[in-house]
Amino acid sequence: MNIDLSGRNAMITGGSKGLGLAAAKEMAASGANVAIVARDAGTLNDARAQLTAHAPKAKVLAVQADVCAAEQLAAAHANVMREFGRIDVLVNNAGHHAAGSFGDLSDAAWDADIQLKLMATVRLTRLAWPGMLAQRWGRVINVLNTYAKAPVAGSAPTSVTRAAQLALTKVLAHEGGPHNVLANALLIGRIKSDQIVRRYKASGSSMPIADFMTQHAVEAKIPIGRMGEPEEFAGLVCFLASDAGGYINGAAINVDGGMAPVV
Ligand SMILES: NC(=O)c1ccc[n+]([C@@H]2O[C@H](COP(=O)([O-])OP(=O)(O)OC[C@H]3O[C@@H](n4cnc5c(N)ncnc54)[C@H](OP(=O)(O)O)[C@@H]3O)[C@@H](O)[C@H]2O)c1
Repeated sequence: MNIDLSGRNAMITGGSKGLGLAAAKEMAASGANVAIVARDAGTLNDARAQLTAHAPKAKVLAVQADVCAAEQLAAAHANVMREFGRIDVLVNNAGHHAAGSFGDLSDAAWDADIQLKLMATVRLTRLAWPGMLAQRWGRVINVLNTYAKAPVAGSAPTSVTRAAQLALTKVLAHEGGPHNVLANALLIGRIKSDQIVRRYKASGSSMPIADFMTQHAVEAKIPIGRMGEPEEFAGLVCFLASDAGGYINGAAINVDGGMAPVV
């Protein structure tokens, strides 16, 4: 099946690295224009260069913004609208792992996670929503964690914030469905990304990174026996962003090699 996103405009938060960059590359290669949002200017520039090399025909916009800051998010949205004219696909992906023992988590830790994941998704989707409804075509893809459905000890605050985003996804699916604006959630298990490389470096491990990742997959009891590749996530984003994904709405799809104990 050929996924054709020609004429579509996609905005991807956290699009400068890891999963977000992989999704941006795949969508751009499938014909979409892509706007990536992140905080670090150097990484954004590098990502823009990678995207342009990967998909020379795509319009690529790199937007510097902290999704936790409402005014920066609004400016980022305005920038994309000015350059692209409309947004067809919104991928709410910016985030990072935040988990600890419940008793140790301060209000500040809870609030930071809620702002980064839930409120950024609320605010940016609210900005993109009226345009999607008016054009009777839209896709909202929320990138979450399997903990949204299957929390474990030590997984707060992220599991709780992700569960809230999961509920939000379902609300959007119900409200957007009649207007052909579809919302779905992708629940990630363990996929190779810059985040994982940072964890490897922080661990001080002397083993090669490939062995570290294999060990990680074994410890996480991933049935497939390995971590996922970013491209194995990006293909699904592309499918959901396309007309081929036109009957999938309100779904929460595990992208985890079978790791989660729930479907
Ligand atoms: N990889 C996994 O195994 C895994 C597992 C479960 C869930 N996830 C989720 O999947 C998403 C992508 O993860 P990843 O592994 O690809 O992470 P990553 O490699 O660390 O990339 C994160 C991206 O988000 C951006 N970002 C982070 N905070 C931001 C902020 N406040 N404002 C704007 N951009 C921000 C980063 O750029 P800047 O730092 O420059 O802003 C970067 O582009 C995250 O939501 C993560 O929680 C990943």
